[in-house]
Amino acid sequence: MFRGCKKKNGSRVVFCILATNPIIWFTMYKDKILNLLRLSRSGFLSGEELAKKIGISRTMVWKHIKSLEFEGFVIEAVPSRGYQISSEPDILRKSDLVRGLKTKIIGRKIQLLSQVVSTNTLAMEMASKGMPEGMVVIAETQTGGKGRLNRKWISPKGNLYLSVILRPNIPIHKAPLITLMGAVAVASAIRTVCNVQAAIKWPNDIHLRGKKVSGLLTEMSAEQDRIRHIVLGIGINVNMEINVLQVGIREIATTLAVEAGHNIDRTIFLHQLFQGIEHWYQEFLSNAAGVLTEWERLNVTIGNRVMVSSLGEMLEGLAQGIDSEGRLIIKQEDGSMRHISAGDVTLKS
Ligand code: BTN
Repeated sequence: MFRGCKKKNGSRVVFCILATNPIIWFTMYKDKILNLLRLSRSGFLSGEELAKKIGISRTMVWKHIKSLEFEGFVIEAVPSRGYQISSEPDILRKSDLVRGLKTKIIGRKIQLLSQVVSTNTLAMEMASKGMPEGMVVIAETQTGGKGRLNRKWISPKGNLYLSVILRPNIPIHKAPLITLMGAVAVASAIRTVCNVQAAIKWPNDIHLRGKKVSGLLTEMSAEQDRIRHIVLGIGINVNMEINVLQVGIREIATTLAVEAGHNIDRTIFLHQLFQGIEHWYQEFLSNAAGVLTEWERLNVTIGNRVMVSSLGEMLEGLAQGIDSEGRLIIKQEDGSMRHISAGDVTLKS
């Protein structure tokens, strides 16, 4: 009935799309039913009440209930009483992510996928097509997740895999600091949501009780003297079964659920993380030194004797600090100083 709409201005276009796209209507009604059922957790809601509140038929209510069950919700249906949610699946829903979002930039635009090769690769493509700063690509699983130093990032269900598009107006040599900024945001979100002592191991691993729980991978597109865009990729082990990781990795990795002692609500975690990224990104743009101070407060590398494997070379010495570009400063046995920009660190004491 709205087919005759003219696509003259932005709001009219949106209205036309909403009016003629049955999938969007279906999802909207399903979300409304879900919200009403969540609100009445303590009691049942009848098909008739739901139908009346939303303005659809009881048959349509039933179809939406079936669709929610298909997603993994367990819904109790009792004749003459109605429906009640018994349990929710551990899946991310875009409507939940959008609701409760307190940020102005980060996560204002979200692409949520059940599977992708790599959120970083997709976000890089989207950024080069002009997608805005703050857009986040999230996937439930990755088939070709990328780690640092050309490693793979195994990406089973239950965790978080996301990439944030940033367009900072900074000199190219300052770009590595974005990863440090991201590590501060991730460690802070873990501390707040899970109440555990997340720590940063240089350059961008997040550790809990000495085991890796998260890693960051930053990719950049730049001209000679100007950054076009940066993609901040973040992988966090949240609720996965640790046994899905191969032997050799599972011993040195952990999950937020294991450390907190219970499963973590990934939507609540993402809201906190988006707020943290927004806060620390703004801080970084106005005063990078503030981010470095916070990174130092949260890190477990500085002050330790370390062994560093960097670009095929093995170094040993005391980790003395990081410089203004985020490089690790090592004091070697002979007293000489080295500034390391990439590598793997093993803490020796
Ligand atoms: C590391 O090696 O520690 C970095 C791992 C980064 C993994 C994340 S998961 C989301 C994003 N997409 C990718 O392909 N990699 C990053």
